Amino acid sequence: MAKISSIEGRILYNSRGSKTIEVDVKSDGKFLGRVCAPSGASVGKYEAVSFPNGKPEESLRVLSENAQKFIGLDSSDLKVIHDTVRSLDKTNNYSEVGGALAFAVTIAAMESAAKAAEEPLFKILSPQSSYKFPFPLGNILGGGAHAGPGTPDIQEILVCSTGSKTIESAIETNLAVHRELRSVLEKEDPGFTNGRGDEGGWAPKLENHKALEVSVKAIENLGFTLGKEVSLGVDFASSTQWNEQKEKYVYNRAGFENSTGEQIDFAADIIEKYKLIYAEDAVHEEAFEDMSELTAKFPKTLVTGDDLTVTNKDILQKAIDKKSCNAAILKVNQAGSLFDAFEFANLATQNNIKLITSHRSGESTDSQISHIGIATKSKMLKVGVVGGERVAKLNELLRLSEHDLICGMAEI
Ligand code: PGA
Ligand code: ZN
Repeated sequence: MAKISSIEGRILYNSRGSKTIEVDVKSDGKFLGRVCAPSGASVGKYEAVSFPNGKPEESLRVLSENAQKFIGLDSSDLKVIHDTVRSLDKTNNYSEVGGALAFAVTIAAMESAAKAAEEPLFKILSPQSSYKFPFPLGNILGGGAHAGPGTPDIQEILVCSTGSKTIESAIETNLAVHRELRSVLEKEDPGFTNGRGDEGGWAPKLENHKALEVSVKAIENLGFTLGKEVSLGVDFASSTQWNEQKEKYVYNRAGFENSTGEQIDFAADIIEKYKLIYAEDAVHEEAFEDMSELTAKFPKTLVTGDDLTVTNKDILQKAIDKKSCNAAILKVNQAGSLFDAFEFANLATQNNIKLITSHRSGESTDSQISHIGIATKSKMLKVGVVGGERVAKLNELLRLSEHDLICGMAEI
């Protein structure tokens, strides 16, 4: 059993250039686990708070004042590490220590334990006799909270190579579609600057449907049939449009408003027309009943909660009771600690809710979430297509393809 011999943190920057924290956990004086926390832009109302009063420095102060409490703990005992973080913060949203700290400490401890055991992280996180690769789900075109004026209101158009038999081919296909989309966009708009949003998807000045049409064109130009070998997904991130006073979805960029019923029709039309395999947050984060309508209507699409379920097991239970989704995003930092996230994952799996492990728009170059996606039997890994912090996760999957224990792709 490896014991934590030191724990310390520092302030670094994420891919958006915002301050965040990195934590080093060392076991037996030499096995280093190092994790830098990500952060979101379209943040769910009920997610863990990233930092106390928005200040990473305060998380760091809490860590250094309490470092002694972690010394001597078994670094592989996730529950004990989680309980120790929890002893510093009794709030339900980590507002006193920051969810980023809970995230970084718990994952860094497990990484340190994996190194001490000379095992890959995914195996330490969940010992199984064999594993599958989740399908990479990548942002090819974006707008909403991730890009500026003129871009689509919907946040993300995603590609997933569901026909691929290997992880290499799944990654290569996503890259090819992203690349082809650039050519399509350049033809469509000679003034296209090649600008990209926070997650690496192209950010052209296009209205929602036009953005989806060019995405289909890119897939077809490569000889694929939409919805067969390669499919599209959309993260509507509808809470961004939802205006509580008006009780309407306000599409500022396209210039229209949707009532609740119109929003369901708007989303249903997109799911049908573009044969979406994946539809995330098609209605706002508190519209559990409206999500149920879509889930009932589209059993073959992953009707997914992100802001809806915020990696919170109590909220997921509500979504299960109301049949609001058939899939859910797993973002460890929405939950706080890795232990919290695994509780969420277990509840999802027990109830046949498919998991999609996901990055955040403000990412680090770490790649532990690739292991977390494998360990939680996620069907997809939503990590972008290009950009150093996105490719880091895909490259880790390629390294892991050398591992005999991982056999083939997940069944969606
Ligand atoms: P976020 O976006 O990290 O900005 O929340 C990602 C998402 O909504 O899926
Ligand atoms: Zn989302």
